[in-house]
Amino acid sequence: MSQMETQTTTGETEEQIRDEWLEYDFEGESALSVEDLDVFYGNDQALQSISMDVPEKSVTALIGPSGCGKSTFLRCLNRMNDRIDAARVEGTVEFDGENIYDDDVNLVELRKRIGMVFQSPNPFPKSIRENISYGPRKHGDIDTGLVARLLGRDDRDEEEELVERCLRGAALWDEVHDRLDDNALGLSGGQQQRLCIARALAVSPDVLLMDEPASALDPIATSKIEDLVEELAEEYTVVIVTHNMQQAARISDQTAVFLTGGELVEYGDTDQIFENPQSQRVEDYITGKFG
Ligand SMILES: Nc1ncnc2c1ncn2[C@@H]1O[C@H](COP(=O)(O)OP(=O)(O)OP(=O)(O)O)[C@@H](O)[C@H]1O
Ligand SMILES: [Mg+2]
Repeated sequence: MSQMETQTTTGETEEQIRDEWLEYDFEGESALSVEDLDVFYGNDQALQSISMDVPEKSVTALIGPSGCGKSTFLRCLNRMNDRIDAARVEGTVEFDGENIYDDDVNLVELRKRIGMVFQSPNPFPKSIRENISYGPRKHGDIDTGLVARLLGRDDRDEEEELVERCLRGAALWDEVHDRLDDNALGLSGGQQQRLCIARALAVSPDVLLMDEPASALDPIATSKIEDLVEELAEEYTVVIVTHNMQQAARISDQTAVFLTGGELVEYGDTDQIFENPQSQRVEDYITGKFG
């Protein structure tokens, strides 16, 4: 198929998205399967018919210029858009054999299994320990009082184990183990972000959604988060939005490129996307010609 290429005002080349740019054959299972997803804010369409499968236990990066719908897409994956009055979502997201948009889905349970870490760290104004134990206690996942005693356990032990396991899982334990009762707001930004990741781990999720989790951090804190994301992918499915192309290339297994207008233009193995993109617009974007 020959293509007429013209320059649009934003510097993007006009081109027709081809189906094969979106075909991504991977080994293993899908954690999430998105089919024909459209999102509208009032009359404005923010995402156009997005379909993609997210492989389990790996890192999927979402990249693209500001306003192309990355955060909107990420929020669709655990129905966070339900909280935005103007947002309307059509299409399906299959998770664990079920469409998460079915009416009978329990949103509390869904968001436990598909957790979210935001751009700015948002720990509770409580102790480091309580940041971890609050969720599991609320959900009744830590046995307390009578239940713990019937099981012959002190609920303190159970909490200690959980706190240590999650802080280790988020590569924060060594820095905070001797001040677990200090207020979390006294931690550095990078430590607070790892605490938020530890907090997300505390409810035993399957999937972690991260929206630019390192964009507010200095290079050292950023590289800690990057190392952590790679480690987490051994056990969890990670979907991460980043503006940092090098970061996406370094830490992700597959990359989805969204462009202006809320379209998914190309999706595939990260090395292929960065070294040999099929779309001219994707090549222009990753080589910095626009965006
Ligand atoms: N709550 C909202 N109400 C109305 N429109 C919104 C809302 N959130 C996002 N939008 C619009 O939807 C489009 C996609 O926004 P989104 O935040 O998903 O983009 P993004 O790719 O995450 O951008 P950035 O890189 O700047 O974070 C934009 O045009 C934005 O203005
Ligand atoms: Mg965003």
